[in-house]
Amino acid sequence: MKGMRKLLILYASQTGNALDAAERLSREAERRACPFNLLSVDQYDPSLLPQEEAVIFVVSTTGQGDTPDSMKVFWRYLLQRNLGQRWLSGVLYAVFGLGDSSYQKYNFVAKKLDKRLMDLGGTTIVERGLGDDQHPSGYEASLDPWLSSLWRMLNMVKPEFLPNGPDVVIQDTVLIDQPKVRITYHNIANDESHFSSASDLTCLNMQIGSARSMHPGKSSSDRSRPGCFLKMVKNLPLTRSNCGKDVRHFEFEFVSHVLKYETGDVLEVLPGQDSAAVDAFIRRCNLDPDSFITVSLREMDDHNTHDSRIPVKLRTFVEFSMDVASASPRRYLFEVMSFFATAEHERERLKYFASPEGRDDLYQYNQKERRTVLEVLEDFPSVQMPFEWLVQLVPPLKPRAFSISSSQSAHPNQVHLTVNVVSWTTPYKRKKKGLCSSWLAALDPCDGIHVPTWFHKGLLPTPSPSLPLILVGPGTGCAPFRGFIEERAVQSRTNSTAPIIFFFGCWNEDGDFLYRDFWLSHSQNKGVLSEAKGGGFYVAFSRDQPQKVYVQHKMREQSQRIWNLLAEGAAVYIAGSSTKMPADVTSAFEEIVSYENEVSAEDAVRWIRALEKCGKFHIEAWS
Ligand code: 2AM
Repeated sequence: MKGMRKLLILYASQTGNALDAAERLSREAERRACPFNLLSVDQYDPSLLPQEEAVIFVVSTTGQGDTPDSMKVFWRYLLQRNLGQRWLSGVLYAVFGLGDSSYQKYNFVAKKLDKRLMDLGGTTIVERGLGDDQHPSGYEASLDPWLSSLWRMLNMVKPEFLPNGPDVVIQDTVLIDQPKVRITYHNIANDESHFSSASDLTCLNMQIGSARSMHPGKSSSDRSRPGCFLKMVKNLPLTRSNCGKDVRHFEFEFVSHVLKYETGDVLEVLPGQDSAAVDAFIRRCNLDPDSFITVSLREMDDHNTHDSRIPVKLRTFVEFSMDVASASPRRYLFEVMSFFATAEHERERLKYFASPEGRDDLYQYNQKERRTVLEVLEDFPSVQMPFEWLVQLVPPLKPRAFSISSSQSAHPNQVHLTVNVVSWTTPYKRKKKGLCSSWLAALDPCDGIHVPTWFHKGLLPTPSPSLPLILVGPGTGCAPFRGFIEERAVQSRTNSTAPIIFFFGCWNEDGDFLYRDFWLSHSQNKGVLSEAKGGGFYVAFSRDQPQKVYVQHKMREQSQRIWNLLAEGAAVYIAGSSTKMPADVTSAFEEIVSYENEVSAEDAVRWIRALEKCGKFHIEAWS
């Protein structure tokens, strides 16, 4: 049975860009009177795909060619062998991918999805489109032309979807009257609030959970309520001042209850927003910070007879769920603002920014300059928008993920992070700081601040004590390996353990040699990195001499040791923040295998691929 005649738009987003692009697509459908359903892939039952008439996929590629978390189950379903070559016969589809061409596996997810859909018998409406983060005006540079072809081709193959043809028939002025979000104001006194009887931390946890669960931009995989609060007890610089970098070691203690984590796990931290910025946003938008609100989607209101949403103060909602002073707004905010601008020149500029001709200038003004919502609103003072639209369009405040750098066996009640405090200057020489890292760096452990966090599995599985390890972690890439080494040091007190060799890289020996004493102490006597234990510690100082020296140079010097360990069954772990580093280090491993094992370059590539397949070659990279 075929479903209702609706275009199905499925997106798989990690950071929100694919959602943005999918929303663009759905607005274009709306303007053409094309009925559609917009869903995240994890909200959709893949077994229904053969019943659809036309499906548009908008998918991101993350990390080293990985699918976004929300797509994992869907993708596993599609890979089932028993689906057969005719499973999607009669189903029309199109794929738009978002990726970054500086990564080796550029738009890998879109490419493999497109191929799989075709292998399952689907028919493409239009050739897949690939958006590139490296393009001067971002993924939209290819989205715009791809969308025009999509509407043209869809009109040819399925004219019933576009009753008025491929061109725009409904103007934005009509759509602007219908924000998707509904705000309900509640008449509640402070002491009657749902949270007033709870203890301080429980109350904060409930408020954050309530605010975040109501944000319309959250995806179904986002957790709203913090998993636990951690108290910062140490905030130490790991780099010399004026060395050009600021990397910190943070120690946190469990406060309410102790959660079990393993080495290689990741901690997500919800950053606090600057109170002055939150207040400035509220003032700028003429909002009452003390009013109690609930937020819902209009389309859901009809289905929701029992509303379980808990009212929160408007200020709490803004503080914990709307990113007003860090993320750049998307293009649609400019489009909507143009309708609310009362000054002619502002309206014209906003319209230009939102048009295809203004795309490059908007990219320079907005993304390149990392303009925040607050800054944009201040640049266009005549715009006064209803709060519904702001809630719909201001990016949701996202937790930031960090590799855990401690072992719980060594610190039962603590978790440690190694964080690069990010700051940079924009092309127009404006100073910018990373929201989460600079917020953490400014916290004083004496103030007893409780940080909302979530623990989860990372890409680096916990190694067993009998597994020999080759670790490569330049810069803050050393974070998970500090945890590995602490863990193995504890294990080696009671049991025999396999050797570890670790390659670390930084700029200068006396500037950013993170955890110098820690590595050196474990390299001495019978430490887990000591030669006596079959281990090793090698460091590359990239800027202490005229030519660059990187971890892969140090690896080549230890070619034979690396090969011996690999032949003994060692696992390889690579972690770090450079875009090119994981690919360069992987090539170095391939060269070593080729040279030491006396096999061709192709066979060496296959050798490393086999290592990856058997779960012994892992990469965790971040930008
Ligand atoms: P650089 O910044 O001097 O080029 C941690 O960031 C260390 O990794 C730094 O010493 C940095 O050197 C180095 N690095 C940068 N690109 C790299 C690459 N492609 N492979 C290995 N190390 C790299």
